[in-house]
Amino acid sequence: MCGIVGILNKKEDAIKMALDGLSSLEYRGYDSAGIAYQKDESIITVKTKGRVQKLKEKIDKNEKSLLAIAHTRWATHGEANDRNAHPHTIGDITIVHNGIIENEQELKEELKKYYTFQSDTDTEVACAFLDFYYQKTNSMIDTITKFMDTIKGSYAILILCKKEPDTIYAIKKDSPLIIAINEESKLIASDVPAILKYSKNYYVLEDMEWAKITKNDISFYQKSKKIEKEINTFEGSNLSSDKGCYPHYMLKEMMEEKESLEKTILPYLTNLDLLTDVSKYKKIEIVACGSAYHAGLIGKYLLEEKANIETHVELASEYRYKHLFLDSDSLVIFISQSGETADTLAALKKVKKQGIKTLGIINVKESSIARYVDDVLYTEAGCEIAVATTKAYVTQVALLSLLALKAAKKKKLLKEEEVKKILEEFYQLPRQVNDLLQEKESSKKIARMLTKEKDIFYLGRGLDSYVMMEGSLKLKEITYLHSECYSAGELKHGSISLIEKGSKIFIGATTELNDKTISNAKEVIARGGEIILITNDDTLLQKERKERILIPITSSFVSPILEVIPLQMIAYYLGCYLKRDIDKPRNLAKSVTVE
Ligand code: F6R
Repeated sequence: MCGIVGILNKKEDAIKMALDGLSSLEYRGYDSAGIAYQKDESIITVKTKGRVQKLKEKIDKNEKSLLAIAHTRWATHGEANDRNAHPHTIGDITIVHNGIIENEQELKEELKKYYTFQSDTDTEVACAFLDFYYQKTNSMIDTITKFMDTIKGSYAILILCKKEPDTIYAIKKDSPLIIAINEESKLIASDVPAILKYSKNYYVLEDMEWAKITKNDISFYQKSKKIEKEINTFEGSNLSSDKGCYPHYMLKEMMEEKESLEKTILPYLTNLDLLTDVSKYKKIEIVACGSAYHAGLIGKYLLEEKANIETHVELASEYRYKHLFLDSDSLVIFISQSGETADTLAALKKVKKQGIKTLGIINVKESSIARYVDDVLYTEAGCEIAVATTKAYVTQVALLSLLALKAAKKKKLLKEEEVKKILEEFYQLPRQVNDLLQEKESSKKIARMLTKEKDIFYLGRGLDSYVMMEGSLKLKEITYLHSECYSAGELKHGSISLIEKGSKIFIGATTELNDKTISNAKEVIARGGEIILITNDDTLLQKERKERILIPITSSFVSPILEVIPLQMIAYYLGCYLKRDIDKPRNLAKSVTVE
């Protein structure tokens, strides 16, 4: 989603640094890009629909500046075009903005009396608002305080004021913004990769905080009050954004699944005490979006079936607006790769207001959600660049599974020998995942078979259905083909009408409910459906199945992780055959920082 970079430098290479920063944020997904830089007394703006490369081509290579703000836009208000791209300028003010201004309409009505708007964006309204109050007060402190008191919604904004050269203002609410420093530069960004090349020391702006950044100084404020802030040091690893020998980040990241799992689970396998104890809670709610939500469904199954803890899984976008039934015996788990997903963050704030205990399962260590939760477990998947999550998802499932295992052990619902056997399965898991990843030919063969399809179905029961939901989402994201996942037993209550001769149906059958799933499979076969079976039992549908992928026999603590690997691979190869933009599929963003 939208990305922000701001540079204030002692040397005149702010333009190049800002554009490089934008390139490292490209993975977030965007549809236009722009930059504003200071030249003599003026502020020059260049912007374009399309990629950062196109923006670079529009800027004279000899152009130099000490100061630049730049932006990649993922359209929310108004289509993706040059006019709507950021930065926007009104009067003396130029801004780039991540987030959504919710009271834009009512503000625009008022501001229309004084300004003519050129774009369809809420950002231009924010810009006009800032200019209006700046002209009135001649004070940026008063203007920003007024802005924070009036504006509803979310924003990370960089502001340039023509009358205050060599200065960038950075303001923040519900959308991340960090400020890094080194001897030469001040770097402001919405995301760590944009600054990492230059500095590991950074400040994090919290909601309703802002900063005035000049060449020699940074001062921080909370509304009109001056505050002090502590500097952080980035400690993450494996943040290389290098594709290495792989044609796509998605393939590279799948190939890193073994290592990601090892890093995530090995410390706990040797010492389960290091893991959060969830056995004391009577009720757990898991809140997440997209693939993280699918991981949560697997967590629910294991926490309920193995650890006997009532567990609900909720979509963050719904949860943030619903009545909550929580008390001191409840725990709410927030799962997020980015740690910045707007809905998940809003849901977390709502739960925290009620004083309920929270646990995060998060990949990005410096993220907002990781900082706000009471307790956090990190998925050690490293930097995930491809929009479609793979390695972060499997590590999320692995941590949830270990939480359930520890709780079951604590509650003595599993015997010592059973726990030992399951731990042994976890030790074997990374290698087994790697073995499945090496079976590229069977995934390619199935992908080739699907290139002419328009609708692809996924079926399963219980755990299998949750894994199939993830398989279906992965396929939709990177192939743009229509796909649905149904609980196998539910099919004949309506959706079976979609099945026709030649329909391709993935079926997951890895649990004690296999017999039931196979009966449902026969119902679709009888209607001409062709089955691609993902199973750990090779005797199933031997004559009837069109294709099958065999995964190792394991307990349900690890089987979902093995089962999803071929589904990720098939989606990937099908996307390649269909010549899709694998790492940046259309309309999608890596980090969904707006509601
Ligand atoms: C799918 C995908 C998304 C994310 C979702 C939540 O491949 O990546 O569905 O899982 O947007 O994102 P995070 O985990 O960053 O909160």
